[in-house]
Amino acid sequence: MVMDKKKDAQSPAPAAATGLKKGLTNYGDIGFSLFLRKAFIKGAGYTDDALDRPVIGIVNTGSSYNPCHGNAPQLVEAVKRGVMLAGGLPVDFPTISVHESFSQPTSMYLRNLMSMDTEEMIRAQPMDAVVLIGGCDKTVPAQLMGASSAGVPAIQLVTGAMLTGGHRGERVGACTDCRRYWGRYRAEEIDAVEIADVNNQLVASVGTCSVMGTASTMACLTEAMGMMISGGASAPAVTADRMRIAEQTGTTAVAMAKARRTPDQILTGKAIENALRVLLAIGGSTNGIVHMTAIAGRLGIDIDLAGLDRMSRETPVLVDLKPSGQHYMEDFHKAGGMLALLRELRPLLHLDVMTVSGRTLREELDAAPPPFKQDVIRPFDNPIYPVGGLAVLRGNLAPGGAIIKQSAANPELMEHEGRAVVFEDAEDMARRMDDPDLDVTADDVLVLKRIGPTGAPGMPEAGYMPIPKKLAVAGVKDMVRISDGRMSGTAAGTIVLHVTPEAAIGGPLAYVQNGDRIRLSVKSREISLLVSEAELAQRAAAAPQVRPSAERGYRKLFLETVTQADQGVDFDFLRATETHDKVPRA
Ligand code: FES
Repeated sequence: MVMDKKKDAQSPAPAAATGLKKGLTNYGDIGFSLFLRKAFIKGAGYTDDALDRPVIGIVNTGSSYNPCHGNAPQLVEAVKRGVMLAGGLPVDFPTISVHESFSQPTSMYLRNLMSMDTEEMIRAQPMDAVVLIGGCDKTVPAQLMGASSAGVPAIQLVTGAMLTGGHRGERVGACTDCRRYWGRYRAEEIDAVEIADVNNQLVASVGTCSVMGTASTMACLTEAMGMMISGGASAPAVTADRMRIAEQTGTTAVAMAKARRTPDQILTGKAIENALRVLLAIGGSTNGIVHMTAIAGRLGIDIDLAGLDRMSRETPVLVDLKPSGQHYMEDFHKAGGMLALLRELRPLLHLDVMTVSGRTLREELDAAPPPFKQDVIRPFDNPIYPVGGLAVLRGNLAPGGAIIKQSAANPELMEHEGRAVVFEDAEDMARRMDDPDLDVTADDVLVLKRIGPTGAPGMPEAGYMPIPKKLAVAGVKDMVRISDGRMSGTAAGTIVLHVTPEAAIGGPLAYVQNGDRIRLSVKSREISLLVSEAELAQRAAAAPQVRPSAERGYRKLFLETVTQADQGVDFDFLRATETHDKVPRA
């Protein structure tokens, strides 16, 4: 249909405007606003026919600073093809792109900024639906947070996992093997030549980390929530499958625009619950909890950590991927990916939830290809770990909760009492950890303070503390480690994270001293500081903590409004104003 040019130029945009008529710039004359907008875009060579179609925005997070998104140009082209095949007009636009290793002080510090950028650019520009191209750890949560708040039909596309490399006959991939080799280098098991050699092999192509780290976790959870096409989570970045998924994503976006299928219709309490179930069954990243809490919080849904822990006791880990298991994402894809996993979990899932396709999860699973023999996604009765990957701990050290990835911890340390060896902050740890005079033994508990949301700031992934050099050289591979920070989803060890409230705002962690006794019992979900309440109160009175602050800019906004881990580390003013659901239900 060709637009009536005269009418478009002179009449006001209808109330429920679509396409190019949406969200007109405010010049005080609606007709002129549309006239001007069309004049400018015609400068790029568009016809009225093209401009009369549903507009599909494509968030392009390609950046030379982000190799995890190195295939973004090809993905954008494939999405555009899909949009045009379905009769839409694709329009790509940039937002902030955040890579883990190129973000100072930490990518988490920038996640909320990226979510605001995403939300406001979706709001500001005319689009009937939006394709979110993300991948690297914080990008997918940022996009889902922003799109949920913007309320425009949205579909997620991930860049896909990198390929694995090979080092002296061994298969390697980021980033579990990065940490493993670095640990071996610190322990002087390998030399400088070998660590330099393996550095060339750990990231064998563009794409996201090749294990069940945060990027893979968020990709799987997004598919589980119905915000991605079925089968869209696992295809590696450089495969034909990934390009086909991109094309289908574009096609689906046009259908979503026509049906006005907004995120709140998909991201219901039940969908969030399905995602949490999957988080446990994949041995997913601890960061997944923080991100899911933030996404759900944008839609007025609270995540109940006690409910999550109950769910964990009845949900085995079925996916045999590093760091909990042995395989890589490309193996998961060849084994059938998320559809194969969801089929195994079917009795535990809500099947009547809507997905981006307009079909329910039940319909998607009924249409899935039949199962075949493989050894990556285990049957329910033969799990790689008998309960969920994560456990929620509480006690006087973490009144607001703490998390441990039990599937990647050392079973011998999960019931442990030891003497605290305290580092006041990350700099203190960097300065003293390798000191040969450090008073530490393998039975001690390493405590790191002030790496929480306001402490570092941005809750960096420094919770994976290195083993003190003198113990590492002596062959110690794991110790109980406790902090208010996070760790990479690719890391493993007996590591207690997200201690809430954090030390920097006066949580009990702030008052732990060298030599205090600490008890960890994963069995009874306990993390306790064996110091009397009276003594702790005395320490708090002697050294009151003042919430960190800044004078200007984003840092000021961040420090004044960031919430704790149990609220997703989102800014308080970005969360929904009302809560209407709490999951998982009892
Ligand atoms: Fe981007 Fe791991 S660094 S996904």
